Amino acid sequence: MIKKYSFILFVAAILLVSFASIKKVSAQTTSSLKETFKNDFLIGTAMNTPQIEEKDVATDGLIKQQFNAVTPENIMKAEIIERKWNTFNFDLADKLVAFAEKNNIKVNGHTLIWHSQLPAFMRNMQSADSVKQYFENHITIVASSYDGKVYSWDVVNEALNEDGTLRKSIFLDKLGDDYVVAAFRLAQKAAPHTKLYYNDYNIEQPKKRGGAIALIKKIQAAGVRIDGVGIQGHRRAYNLPLHDIEESIKEFSALGIEVAFTELDLSVLPSPFENTTADINAAAKGNANMNPYKNGLPDSVAQMQAKAYSDLFKLLLKYKKNVSRVTFWGVNDAQSWLNNFPIQGRTDYPLLFDRNLKPKPAFYSVIATREK
Ligand code: XIL
Repeated sequence: MIKKYSFILFVAAILLVSFASIKKVSAQTTSSLKETFKNDFLIGTAMNTPQIEEKDVATDGLIKQQFNAVTPENIMKAEIIERKWNTFNFDLADKLVAFAEKNNIKVNGHTLIWHSQLPAFMRNMQSADSVKQYFENHITIVASSYDGKVYSWDVVNEALNEDGTLRKSIFLDKLGDDYVVAAFRLAQKAAPHTKLYYNDYNIEQPKKRGGAIALIKKIQAAGVRIDGVGIQGHRRAYNLPLHDIEESIKEFSALGIEVAFTELDLSVLPSPFENTTADINAAAKGNANMNPYKNGLPDSVAQMQAKAYSDLFKLLLKYKKNVSRVTFWGVNDAQSWLNNFPIQGRTDYPLLFDRNLKPKPAFYSVIATREK
C-alpha cells in the first residue's frame, strides 16, 4: 500500500515538474520583443519579398508576434520601384503598407537616395540635367505616394566615406556638395507627415560620425527638416564598439534628433577585412576557414553573441529617451544577407531567431535586459 502511494506520489511529482517546465518553455517562446520594449523603443525587422507577399506564413506569424516596425529589405529601392525612367512600380510597396496597417506595424521606407541598387538607366547617366530631373522626380513621386503611410524614410543612405567626407557617387558628381540638403528639402515638401532620417553604416566611428554631424548641421542650418539619424549596426559580435555607440547616441541626440538602429545584425563569422564594412559593393573570396560553422553554431559562440546583444540592449535602454527604434536586418539567420556578404555562400548566425524560427540564446538575453 505504502509502496503504491509513494509510486503515485512519485508520478505526480514528475508530472508536476514536467508541467512546470513546459509552462516555462512556452512562456519563454511567447515572450515578445515588441511587448518587452513597448515603453522604450520600436522593435523592427527587415522584410523580404516572400514575407511581403504573405507566401511565408510561418515567418509572417513571427513578425506579427514580435515586431511593431518593418523596413523593406529591397523593394522600395530605386532599382525596383523605378526600374524604367518615370515608370513606378508600387505593387510590392503597397502590399507592405497594407500588411503593416492590418497588423499595427510602422513602416520605415528604405531608401530614396543611395548610390547602390540604382536602376540601369540612371547608373551611367552623363548629363547633370538628367540626373537632376531623375533625382527631383524620384524623391517627389515616391515620397508623396507614401506620405503618412510610411512612418519614416531613410531619405539618404550611405553618403559618407569612412573619413567623414562625402562619398564619390553619381549624385555628388552631377549635383555637387549640396545634394543631401536638396534631397531632404524635396522629401520635406513631398512627405510632410513622415519622419525624415539620414542612414549610414559605421557612423558610430569617430571620423565618420564627425562627417554625419556636419551633414546634419548643414541640413538644419538650411532650415530643412531632419528628424533622425539611423546607425545601421552591421557589426561583428566579437568586437562591438560600445563606447563609440554611446558617444554617438549622445552626440547625435545633442543635435535635437532621434537615433535609431536601423539594420542591426551581429555576425559571428571571421571578416576578410581589417575594418568592418557594410558597403554592398565590397566582395571577398572565401575559403573553408572563413566558413567555420556551416554544420551548426557552437554553444560557446551562441553565448558570446548573446552577451554582445545583451550589452548593446543594456546601453540602448540607458538611452531609451533618445533611441526611437531598433530594427534587425531580417527575422532569422536563414534570411540574413550576411550569408552572402562579403563572401558568397557562408553560414552566418547574426540574428535572434535560428533557421527554424526558434529563439536563440541572444533572443533570451535581449529580453532579459528588460526584466526587473
Ligand atoms: C542589402 C539586402 O539585405 C540584400 O538583400 C541586397 O542584396 C543588398 O542590400 N545597407 C543597406 C541595406 O542600407 O539596404 C543593405 O541591404 C545592407 C547594407
